Amino acid sequence: MAELVDFASEAFLRDPQKGVALLRAAGPVVATKFPIIGRVWVTTTYEAAAHVLKDSATFTLRKEGGSVVGLPWWMPKFIGALANNMLTMDEPDHTRLRDIVDEAFRRRAVMDMEPHIRAIADRLADDLFAQGSPADLVQCYARMLPLAVICELLGLPPDDRPKFIAWANSMAHLTNAFGFLRLIGGMMKMRRYLQERLRLTRKQGGEGLIAELVRVEKEGGRITPDEMVSMVFLLLSAGSETTTHLISGSVFELLKDPARRDWLTADWSRASLAVEEFLRFVSPVQFSKPRYVRHDVDLEGVKLKKGDRVMAMLVAANLDPQANEGPERLDLERRPNRHLSFGTGIHFCLGHQLARIEGICALQALFTRWPRLELAVESSQIHWRRRPGIRMIAELPVVSGS
Ligand code: HEM
Repeated sequence: MAELVDFASEAFLRDPQKGVALLRAAGPVVATKFPIIGRVWVTTTYEAAAHVLKDSATFTLRKEGGSVVGLPWWMPKFIGALANNMLTMDEPDHTRLRDIVDEAFRRRAVMDMEPHIRAIADRLADDLFAQGSPADLVQCYARMLPLAVICELLGLPPDDRPKFIAWANSMAHLTNAFGFLRLIGGMMKMRRYLQERLRLTRKQGGEGLIAELVRVEKEGGRITPDEMVSMVFLLLSAGSETTTHLISGSVFELLKDPARRDWLTADWSRASLAVEEFLRFVSPVQFSKPRYVRHDVDLEGVKLKKGDRVMAMLVAANLDPQANEGPERLDLERRPNRHLSFGTGIHFCLGHQLARIEGICALQALFTRWPRLELAVESSQIHWRRRPGIRMIAELPVVSGS
């Protein structure tokens, strides 16, 4: 059945609508094969996806015995240690870890950061063509803003950013064995780097969330040294990659249709609704992490067995006509907008407020500085990286326009 859709194909990543329709025609929950993970059920409707994500007692992230679902046996051990974070944990460990950082991502804290995020976006927009024209909007802008913001939040030195960019790029090539080796090399370096940063912060103190983790560690009992490394690793990766693809995907949609670009730039009070629609339509994260079925269960009429694995297909939920009218249309004024781009349930994205503000600031700064920005190539020449589960535009060459 699964082989109805190749999740790693550029065709599916470029435009998931046809693949989603094919899968949905096969039922609300479909047995399929996913790269690296292997045999897994995927949901094809909004209801089925929300059901899996909300029922965290039945659909768990750990197998009985504690191992992380979805990591193949051949994966190097240190990756298992890095993956030991709140996003791969069930209760009570999940809440123990999430509570430590929750405050920093609340609406108020994020609103306080907004002027600063705007200032970073303005500076990046000013420098867009500093290396020449056309500029690659992904590397020169969409990647730099979320990375700068999360590094500052964590308290990581600005001079170290090129390391994270190299590491983020190693993640983007996860399409073949060579790409996989590159990724493992990148993760290894990253882990060593973070261990060293934590060691320095313990010794010298510092600002930001890493210093806060060290403070919590000193109180004792709430977080282990390995969990601190994997927490920072999660925040750094979840906090930058996904938002990069939201920004580049949104800019691409606006540049494909200059009338839409002009409509948005004529009145920035439209930006918040527009970003909500970009979140739905771009669906930067196409699937949730795989969940493990704790006991035999009926999911929307489909019988799943204890031990099966299931992934909520967020992009299918976002394109479900039962959830939104005309979901195949990009409607920047859509309201209400029911999407699962940030997941739902206990693992609902910690950074959702931050991502939204970054999306708004990124578009406003970019198009205020370059109101006539244009694609430097035909839109059909834009490529998506073949990284299953994440929709990432490889390069987006732009010119300042006339
Ligand atoms: C969880 C999407 C931005 C941090 C999630 C999940 C999704 C998601 C779908 C749930 C996955 C699951 O249940 O399997 C996105 C998208 C973003 C974005 C689409 C941008 C457009 C961010 C940012 C941060 C962040 C800026 C900041 C650090 C996290 C964390 C979790 C998470 C820590 C795990 C929460 C938990 O397990 O309780 N995100 N995210 N995300 N996200 Fe985001």
